[in-house]
Amino acid sequence: MDPVTRLGVVGCGLMGSGIAEVAARGGLDVRVAEATPDALEAGRRRLTASLDRGVRRGKLSEEQRDECLARLSFTYDLGDLADRQFVIEAVAENRDIKTGVLQSLDKVLEDPAAILATNTSSFPVIDLAVATERPAQVIGMHFFNPVPVQQLVEVIPALTTSQDTVQRTRDLAAQLGKQAIQAPDRSGFVVNALLVPYLLSAVRMVESGAARPDDIDQGMELGCAHPMGPLHLLDLIGLDTAQAVAESMYEEFKEPLYAPPALLRRMVAAGHLGRKSGRGFFTYTG
Ligand code: CAA
Repeated sequence: MDPVTRLGVVGCGLMGSGIAEVAARGGLDVRVAEATPDALEAGRRRLTASLDRGVRRGKLSEEQRDECLARLSFTYDLGDLADRQFVIEAVAENRDIKTGVLQSLDKVLEDPAAILATNTSSFPVIDLAVATERPAQVIGMHFFNPVPVQQLVEVIPALTTSQDTVQRTRDLAAQLGKQAIQAPDRSGFVVNALLVPYLLSAVRMVESGAARPDDIDQGMELGCAHPMGPLHLLDLIGLDTAQAVAESMYEEFKEPLYAPPALLRRMVAAGHLGRKSGRGFFTYTG
């Protein structure tokens, strides 16, 4: 099969803008869909700022940045994705929203062989696949934050996903310069199944007063050479997303170690979502 040249990305938040950026840098024609003008503008700004940062850091020339921008187009209308060969949805971690987006895309895509990938962090891919009329062409494609930096993509076939879809998804990951691993269709897949209990344990340490956020993070950075401690990482991921992932894993396994601690819920309720809101376990300016 020919390589994918026309990619669609739905959602231009932290993950969607990163996916669109690496795809444009990988030479693909990328069309990005968002639900509202404000969200689209914010996403476009984030994406442009990231490309500008790449220029400042000497990772791409001004000419390459301009070529990337020329390969990107934006729309509010999912109908504008009709000609896409492969679409990655990266909307909020909400089962109903993701299901609705995949069902709409299923109707809109002209090519019956086009693939629908979900960047869900935790929902069973099979539930999303069977909500469409093309369950053999629905697959999980889970990127990591920040997308331009993290090398990994988890490729998650549902029970219904065809081998052809798996191969095309692996090929696309390679086109984007990513390294794919195959992960099981269990909530949390491979990485979050290991990462989330660790992050929640750090929240419980703060909640119980056992240790201070700075000390916890320094402990893991200096003691275990992690690039950032668990609380800075939660702030990067977004506390709302982390809560949604933990809830989904708890729903699947009923293991107390996946249950979101009360402190996490309270912080989300207060709007302390991490970097994106300027405040989480730490505060951020600019
Ligand atoms: N976009 C593009 N490049 C970026 C970037 C971004 N948003 N953020 C950082 N970078 C690049 C910088 O340009 C820099 O590159 P060079 O060294 O080649 O110039 C490099 O990354 C390091 O950046 P900084 O010096 O600014 O900062 P840092 O050294 O503190 O690194 C970090 C920042 C890359 C975020 C690093 O701390 C890190 O890797 N942290 C761990 C992130 C992680 O674990 N992510 C997974 C989260 S889990 C998830 O996403 C899945 C889920 O479902 C919840």
